[in-house]
Amino acid sequence: MTVQFISLSVGSQTARLATLTTSSNLSAAEAEKKPEKTKFGPLKDEDRIFTNLYGRHDWKLKGAMSRGQWYKTKEIVLKGPEWIQGEVKESGLRGRGGAGFPTGLKWSFMNKPDDGRPKYLVVNADEGEPGTCKDREIMRHDPHTLVEGCLVAGRAMGARAAYIYIRGEFYNEASNMQVAINEAYKAGFIGKDACGSGYDFDVYLHRGAGAYICGEETALIESLEGKQGKPRLKPPFPADIGVFGCPTTVANVETVAVAPAICRRGGSWFASMGRERNRGQKLFNISGQVNNPCTVEEEMSIPLKELIERHAGGVIGGWDNLLGVIPGGSSTPVIPKSSCDTVLMDFDGLVEAQTSLGTAAVIVMNKQCDIVRCISRLIDFYKHESCGQCTPCREGVSWMMKVMHRFSHTICALGDGAAWPVQGLIRHFRPVLEQRMRDFEAKQTQAEAS
Ligand SMILES: Cc1cc2nc3c(=O)[nH]c(=O)nc-3n(C[C@H](O)[C@H](O)[C@H](O)COP(=O)(O)O)c2cc1C
Ligand code: SF4
Repeated sequence: MTVQFISLSVGSQTARLATLTTSSNLSAAEAEKKPEKTKFGPLKDEDRIFTNLYGRHDWKLKGAMSRGQWYKTKEIVLKGPEWIQGEVKESGLRGRGGAGFPTGLKWSFMNKPDDGRPKYLVVNADEGEPGTCKDREIMRHDPHTLVEGCLVAGRAMGARAAYIYIRGEFYNEASNMQVAINEAYKAGFIGKDACGSGYDFDVYLHRGAGAYICGEETALIESLEGKQGKPRLKPPFPADIGVFGCPTTVANVETVAVAPAICRRGGSWFASMGRERNRGQKLFNISGQVNNPCTVEEEMSIPLKELIERHAGGVIGGWDNLLGVIPGGSSTPVIPKSSCDTVLMDFDGLVEAQTSLGTAAVIVMNKQCDIVRCISRLIDFYKHESCGQCTPCREGVSWMMKVMHRFSHTICALGDGAAWPVQGLIRHFRPVLEQRMRDFEAKQTQAEAS
């Protein structure tokens, strides 16, 4: 695809929008010749997708359109599923919900001959992973990115409707989302003949009740159907039998919300950011013992140290006071400072460091924090949230410290994810645990003697 850019002044910034022309392989060949980048971040202003992340501007339709949203959406819809899937594949986008599965490929699993059943897009807006607070910022401050994303992603899958399953506690987010959905219907952007494209597409908002396990895609589907939110055995996978027995794709809010920008500006634009296999921009949450906890949009593969120092005002007490970081939400293993010094914030970089990008929610712990208490607090959470279907998870999470090596054969990934914080703790902070045991023994001996 040849991507020609036109300049369009949108408020204070200039957005480059692809003219959506498909022609020769020239640009792909040209792109291949380009040497791979070695420096990542800071993200250029013109490459930002979430231009109202901090809620400083009008989040409603007028404001969203002035920032470039809903621009050429009709043309994108008219290009059809293959074209949209092609752009998303070229972009290298990987799911932003935690597992990082290639998005274009996942959406193409919906390419099935019509058997009479409708297809559905389900947007996972449950966001229950402790430390993670990115999707709620999109829904509260830039909800039209998601409504437009539903239409584009839905069209890519041949879906007739999108269900946005939102965590029940997100009152303001649900309220703003509903306003944005209503506005989009009123403007003719969704509903019958969406954007004047001839394609009919509905968007529904469904509020959950706030169980962490309902973020797991099959538990979410069960809950959406009005049942208890408990994961299903797979296969069948949702692309075969999903919500209401129909082919379904469950996708994360951020994944869906970036799809229109990828189609407007071209998959190759998105792929120009981040390392190979780790492309694009990304929302990062930085919390814990930093001077300025924040959510920020950055280039994938930015070094963790730069991310924390540039955007979060650094570690409280300085970089040398850093003890460890949980890099991708609470279910990813903690890594020690020595890894944090150099690790790149992307899928491959964090796997090399024996952890995971997860939801890119960075939890920083400095030397004043009691890391054993922090990790055991997280295990309390997982114990509370286990749905109880599988014995290793139901019984094991409460025995975690003793029996984690026996942890296996569970239906969904909560069982594994819950064990990872403890694995990281033992892997990198074993001396702290040993000291804790010695202190405990000394106290007991003292008590017995007195
Ligand atoms: C216990 C558990 C909780 C999860 N919670 C969420 C969540 O809150 N939001 C989310 O998008 N994905 C969550 N996931 C991942 C989803 O099952 C699914 O992989 C994801 O929504 C797919 O979207 P993506 O392809 O856009 O990443 C969770 C997975 C597990 C095992
Ligand atoms: S692993 Fe845990 S949360 Fe997942 S289905 Fe089994 S018991 Fe439920």
